[in-house]
Amino acid sequence: MWSRCGRPVHIVDRNPLQLERASAQIQKLRQTWPLGSLPGDRTNTAWGAFAVSSPDGLADSLGQSWLAIECVPEVRPLKRSILQELDVLAPADVIVASNSSSFTISELLQGFQLQSPDRFASIHSYWPPETTPVEIMGAESTRPEILQTLMTQAAAHGFQPFLVRRSSTGYIYNRIWAAIKRETLQVLDEGVATAAEIDGLFKAVLQTPKGPCAQMDTVGLDVVLNIEEHYAEERPELPKAPRTYLEKMIAGGKLGVKSGEGFFKYEETK
Ligand SMILES: NC(=O)c1ccc[n+]([C@@H]2O[C@H](COP(=O)([O-])OP(=O)(O)OC[C@H]3O[C@@H](n4cnc5c(N)ncnc54)[C@H](O)[C@@H]3O)[C@@H](O)[C@H]2O)c1
Repeated sequence: MWSRCGRPVHIVDRNPLQLERASAQIQKLRQTWPLGSLPGDRTNTAWGAFAVSSPDGLADSLGQSWLAIECVPEVRPLKRSILQELDVLAPADVIVASNSSSFTISELLQGFQLQSPDRFASIHSYWPPETTPVEIMGAESTRPEILQTLMTQAAAHGFQPFLVRRSSTGYIYNRIWAAIKRETLQVLDEGVATAAEIDGLFKAVLQTPKGPCAQMDTVGLDVVLNIEEHYAEERPELPKAPRTYLEKMIAGGKLGVKSGEGFFKYEETK
């Protein structure tokens, strides 16, 4: 996504297989996704170059960059260690951002000394990659110019940036989506409607291809539970029934699409 308006991107991963997969996936996207087909695309620009390397190439890549985004798995100590490494390795004019879906940048930076905490921010993207909105959020220590640069540059690279004006777990979209998931689970638990009825109603009213139950099945019910537990840690007033409902489904082996059954049944894909 960052390369589609012609600018180069470096991908650094410690797993060579993942680098191979990423390269193949990017090539495939570039073939199937014509330039000019998304908001912000410039039809007269070619794709930017992309380079892949192991963490040994990190310092070199940082020397050629204005922005570094960490996208390592959603494990707080791992993210914190990568951010610390970037604090030391990235030249002073490089903005350092996290793509974490559930940890705010304030939470990730809490309690450790950084050389330059004022250049850290969150920039959160979506799946699938051709989704153009990104949400940009700072910590209390973030310089306002950093957020302004990210907003301007994200738009110049073809994104639709949205500024999260205060630190918010779940940013804007995921936080509101969490409320929809929670209430869906509550409605199911109370026996108000079935999953098929909830999704049928949502699809018809919002003219959307997927309802909340099918969407949770796609993400995986164990992941949905982890996310909800994180919100509940921060906001103890949240109802427990939606989590209990998910726990029962998970204990019964219903994890969603990946286990063949969640709220709905899925054909085995091999
Ligand atoms: N998957 C999504 O739809 C999505 C959407 C938005 C944000 N995110 C966020 O993106 C981040 C990554 O999620 P993902 O689903 O891509 O995870 P993933 O597990 O698919 O990919 C993480 C990558 O990090 C690499 N890695 C792990 N430790 C490393 C290290 N020390 N140095 C270098 N590379 C290392 C792994 O090899 C792997 O390729 C998470 O913070 C998640 O919240 C994911």
